[in-house]
Amino acid sequence: TAPQSRLKSALGRLGPVGKFLDEMLERLAGGDDAKRLKIPQATGSIGAVGGQAFFIPLYELFLTYGGIFRLTFGPKSFLIVSDPAIAKHILRDNALGYSKGILAEILEFVMGKGLIPANYEVWKVRRKAIVPALHQKYVAKMIGLFGEASYSLCEKLDKAASDGEDVEMESLFSRLTLDIIGKAVFNYDFDSLTHDNGIIEAVYTVLREAEMRSTSPIPTWEIPIWKDISPRQKKANQALKLVNDTLDDLIAICKRMVEQEELQFHEEYVNEQDPSILHFLLASGDDVSSKQLRDDLMTLLIAGHETSAAVLTWTFYLLSKEPSIMSKLQDEVDSVLGDRLPTLEDMKKLKYTTRVINESLRLYPQPPVLIRRSLDDDILGGFPIKSGEDIFISVWNLHRSPKHWVDADCFNPERWPLDGPNPNEINQNFSYLPFGGGQRKCIGDMFATFETVVATAMLVRRFNFQMALGAPPVEMTTGATIHTTEGLLMTVTRRTRPPIIPKLETFTQIVNVDEPVALGE
Ligand code: HEM
Repeated sequence: TAPQSRLKSALGRLGPVGKFLDEMLERLAGGDDAKRLKIPQATGSIGAVGGQAFFIPLYELFLTYGGIFRLTFGPKSFLIVSDPAIAKHILRDNALGYSKGILAEILEFVMGKGLIPANYEVWKVRRKAIVPALHQKYVAKMIGLFGEASYSLCEKLDKAASDGEDVEMESLFSRLTLDIIGKAVFNYDFDSLTHDNGIIEAVYTVLREAEMRSTSPIPTWEIPIWKDISPRQKKANQALKLVNDTLDDLIAICKRMVEQEELQFHEEYVNEQDPSILHFLLASGDDVSSKQLRDDLMTLLIAGHETSAAVLTWTFYLLSKEPSIMSKLQDEVDSVLGDRLPTLEDMKKLKYTTRVINESLRLYPQPPVLIRRSLDDDILGGFPIKSGEDIFISVWNLHRSPKHWVDADCFNPERWPLDGPNPNEINQNFSYLPFGGGQRKCIGDMFATFETVVATAMLVRRFNFQMALGAPPVEMTTGATIHTTEGLLMTVTRRTRPPIIPKLETFTQIVNVDEPVALGE
């Protein structure tokens, strides 16, 4: 009732005393005190969780124990949250009461104080500096880049189609999004779709190390002597050094460019030769140490790379199982794009393509779990919790909860009406969190949506995709994102109708360069 909620908010302003009184009130109102105050404790052993993607057994436990329960492994205990109202409280309403906890500890070695792991003080300053770099004109410009990179991938697939070779799509998507994010963030052309080199290998070594650390039960990298002699550690450290040195060089090059530049900085500033986020930050006069800048670039590189690759992987897996959805998608792409490369205008028109991505993100959220640690005592779902609790918000469970979704496990882009709003955490009241929510929400949501829409549209316009004969079964494993255990081996065939290959004139016009661009290799 209104008086009760006024009383609650007045108590909230009273600090710890208010919190205590609020708890007492909750107890009195609840009747069944003991039950209300004790978070359900899931029983089981670490053995039950090991061996498969860890968020899978958490789903079963959610069905048994409900929207919040405690899971204990020896001395360690975690709260698993699968309830939208509790997720909203942690991520948005009381966001200041939670830190990134274990995640920040694990990612420190690679991201330092970058935006994802950063504590509140650092985060506040850096978020304000970086978000303006992803303005509308920048994102529109990036659509040209998405088209160009996806075109490269199409050429590669075309060759495989004529050679009759099956292709492992997961690693190709990873290379596609690496090429995109390198250009988009610091104007570096990894060109990983066409060749391999030391820096690409170093990026992957660092990524795998970060993923290994986030899933390893024992932090071997902290054991004093072991960390210096282990070959894996040595390799990871060397790779990290190479990536860091490369980033330092790129920062230096960009600084020189900015110094020589005449262009005045303004809100929608984009340098045509180098539209990267790094260039925007340096041109804005952002006063930041080079270590912090490097941490920010590394964070953006990692945040924007594997996530988008995973979304494309699972989208194509889902599409391969649903030919009717695939043909509806191809119909839309054919009629909206014809033989052109996608533009910003097309993003509004590729409605079904966007719904396919929305639905793929529901079934395979990247990452499947968000990590937090309570900084103060709090009340979650009526249960008091202490400061220092490690919390996993299972987006996987939220997105597949039978309470919130009809046929939760079914891939059904039609569940989102074409003329309705783009689904997000606000209009779905935290039952759907593809990009998180609250103040730590993803800053690349628009970028990533357009990137995956452009890539999907360009690929399905030109090819049909089927699971290859004898392909290994597609199962899940997890690092920061959901990977397949043995890749996504597909047979790619050219579509015979309608005209598919983009015209060179349209292409050069869209990427906005004076010289014609050499297409393909
Ligand atoms: C944060 C998802 C692409 C940059 C997040 C979070 C999610 C997410 C769920 C919240 C993490 C948390 O609350 O703990 C995704 C998905 C993507 C994607 C699914 C692709 C489909 C990108 C891209 C960029 C990016 C392309 C950069 C260009 C970031 C950053 C944060 C973040 C910097 C941290 C924000 C902060 O703490 O203030 N992302 N992301 N992401 N994402 Fe993304």
